[in-house]
Amino acid sequence: MRRLQGHTAIVTGAGSGIGQGIAKRFAAEGANIVINYIAPLEGAQSTLHMVEAAGSQGLIVKADVSKPNEIERLINQAWAGFGSVNILINNAGIGFEPAFLEAKEEDFYRVIDVNLKAPFFVTQAFARKLSAEKKPGRVVNISSIHEDIVLPGHTSYCASKGGLRMLMRNLAVELAALGITVNNIAPGAIDTPMSRPLLENKPRRDTLLTQLPLNRIGTTEDVAALALFLASDEASYVTGATYYIDGGLSAYYNE
Ligand SMILES: NC(=O)c1ccc[n+]([C@@H]2O[C@H](COP(=O)([O-])OP(=O)(O)OC[C@H]3O[C@@H](n4cnc5c(N)ncnc54)[C@H](O)[C@@H]3O)[C@@H](O)[C@H]2O)c1
Repeated sequence: MRRLQGHTAIVTGAGSGIGQGIAKRFAAEGANIVINYIAPLEGAQSTLHMVEAAGSQGLIVKADVSKPNEIERLINQAWAGFGSVNILINNAGIGFEPAFLEAKEEDFYRVIDVNLKAPFFVTQAFARKLSAEKKPGRVVNISSIHEDIVLPGHTSYCASKGGLRMLMRNLAVELAALGITVNNIAPGAIDTPMSRPLLENKPRRDTLLTQLPLNRIGTTEDVAALALFLASDEASYVTGATYYIDGGLSAYYNE
């Protein structure tokens, strides 16, 4: 039985990495997918091919989720395309930032706007629609182990993911009466374009592997399997929690 048959999911930042992996797996489980991307179009198109190859329908919507007017358009196009949507995956994120002593105001807000402001306003627009329709839903945020664990040199990133932790916990309570669950997934080291500069640096990769009890880098398939559970009917009593998926990294972390 396909676990998301009859469901529709919006996946932000679905043209690469974890978002693409989630879109592919959800489609294989029967969900229609709204494939949000900012650039490049080719990434979103390859996600669409994966969704269609899995026998589901996809809809590509270009929108910068750090901009509330583009979020409104994303949500409206998603509803226009599929009639309704019941799963939201807040996945879009950025990692790069200058060193703390060099960072400017725009560097800070670049990270905060995508990693924290976007989940706030995308979830708000999603919840408003569901509230008007009196339908339940699922929100899954792709956070990071750095919602809790210090990462020197990435203060804006850690602050954004730490904020996402409290955003998730607050909204789990606020939206419970609407039947909307809200949870975070906190990946460790997953092989994606974002982590590739680290993973392609052999000495850093080797050091990282010594800190990984399961002794391997995670895959987008690993993360998608957890997202599938949290988005499925089986997780109806799960809300307000962060689920770590890190091969034991956070349990055994040392700088
Ligand atoms: N790869 C890892 O090891 C790792 C670990 C912990 C958390 N994460 C989180 O996973 C999520 C996905 O990252 P990834 O590793 O797949 O890297 P990625 O760079 O492949 O994916 C991020 C996606 O977000 C998109 N995006 C960026 N800004 C956007 C915007 N304003 N509007 C719409 N889309 C936008 C990018 O175009 C990209 O497709 C991020 O939130 C990241 O913080 C990744």
